[in-house]
Amino acid sequence: MTIVCRTVLPEIPTHNDPAGREHAGDHGADSGEAAVGGEYSGGIGPESLPVSIGAALRFLAAVLQAKAVVEIGTGSGTTALAMLEGMAPDGVLTSIDLDPDAQRVARATLAEAGVAGSRTRLITGVARDVLPRLTEEAYDLVFVDAVKQEYPHYLEVGTRLLRPGGALVFRGVVPDRDPGDPERCHAARELTRAVHADTNLVPLVLPIGEGLLTIART
Ligand SMILES: C[S@@+](CC[C@H](N)C(=O)[O-])C[C@H]1O[C@@H](n2cnc3c(N)ncnc32)[C@H](O)[C@@H]1O
Repeated sequence: MTIVCRTVLPEIPTHNDPAGREHAGDHGADSGEAAVGGEYSGGIGPESLPVSIGAALRFLAAVLQAKAVVEIGTGSGTTALAMLEGMAPDGVLTSIDLDPDAQRVARATLAEAGVAGSRTRLITGVARDVLPRLTEEAYDLVFVDAVKQEYPHYLEVGTRLLRPGGALVFRGVVPDRDPGDPERCHAARELTRAVHADTNLVPLVLPIGEGLLTIART
């Protein structure tokens, strides 16, 4: 039986479809915007970030006037850079990645973009081990961009890190490219169920980059 993951988030509204059916993958809305504005290229990292994801992250960091942000999955530092651009000028981004090579690239990306070292705290480690060491209710924004199967766990821990009024963002929650991956589908369903079960959470799926699940913590 083929499991179609596009249907796993039916009750979370997108910005253009209350039933959550319309969304665009990395080759949908993003590629259209990239044709107008070009790929986001905030640094020298090897990964180019779809322009709409960079814009959404920058916007969220700005609207939250974020002074403290946690990122799970530093990678090449491109999403970190987008958030830093929207954050308060003295805001600090804490970013976790288990891969020291990725963080070396990220350091170079951020330095090349002129980001002061005092504005970032790059932690090399497994997120499950690092997150419990962070202060609860101390962060304005938590961004998750790592292994999708672990997203339900990050919802639980990430919610604890947020101050009331903060936001939690998951990248890639509508896996268009991998519709038959049962583990990923299961994790997406579990995530959806857990979001709906918590009345303090207000979710919205933005239909960009395989779905950006954005959750406000009230
Ligand atoms: C999709 S990439 C992140 C891309 C990044 N946000 C960027 O802008 O380039 C996912 C990253 O998550 C990291 N990762 C995967 N599982 C992890 C875990 N359990 N703990 C910490 N980092 C993890 C990987 O090493 C990888 O660099």
